[in-house]
Amino acid sequence: MEVVIQPSTAAAVELVAEIIAREVQAKPRSVLGLATGRTMESVYARLVQKHRAERLDFSNCQTFNLDEYVGLPGTDKHSYRHYMNRLFFNQVNIDLQNTHLPHGDAPNLAAECERYERLIHDAGGIDLQLLGIGQSGHIGFNEPPSEANSRTRVVVLAPETIRQNTPLFGADKMPSHAITMGVETILAAKKCLLLATGKSKAGIIQRTIEGPVTTNNVPASALQSHPHCTIVLDEAAASALTKVPRKR
Ligand code: GLP
Repeated sequence: MEVVIQPSTAAAVELVAEIIAREVQAKPRSVLGLATGRTMESVYARLVQKHRAERLDFSNCQTFNLDEYVGLPGTDKHSYRHYMNRLFFNQVNIDLQNTHLPHGDAPNLAAECERYERLIHDAGGIDLQLLGIGQSGHIGFNEPPSEANSRTRVVVLAPETIRQNTPLFGADKMPSHAITMGVETILAAKKCLLLATGKSKAGIIQRTIEGPVTTNNVPASALQSHPHCTIVLDEAAASALTKVPRKR
């Protein structure tokens, strides 16, 4: 696990966008695993700029998002499909047909989870998986406790996650369940890239990087066992680390 601490949030975002851009340039048919959340908004803004200014080409890429809220159709403004279309897909030259999220409004959720796993498999697996982290220690929506061998499934959101994301729903009620790629699905990606910024992530980042590997308590700690995982932090998110060399 490589931990890179950047002097500012903007520099952390820039590095993550650069790593994604390099991946797409090296392999135009890349299969990208994508993430949502507030932290990622500026990553997508930077990728859109790179597409416009540097002609970064997404036309041959396929994407798979980590998760989606149960019960929300892709047209709902709170759905992750809506987020992705608005902030990224509709602003670059990706073919929408090649962009995938679990369908949170599928009539048979178990079948939907199996369909999603099969799609990822049929695409040849994920080359680079982008990740954020929740204060509960979740990656995707793998809340503690999660099994290390979990695959795409329906999960109940942790109270902490509900507290963290409720403000994004305004007057609307936030769903209590989500479909998420499992811990094993995420770790099957050839490379993982986690971005965390801000003081509110410092405690959970310390446990993720320096604590024991325990998907029961901190699902993100499973990344310690991934052979190609990069964690990019700003100074604030790195502020509780005690052992990691302060690499710049
Ligand atoms: C949601 C997503 C996670 C993401 C998290 C971080 O819960 N399901 O994949 O890591 O948000 O959110 P934020 O960036 O808003 O802190």
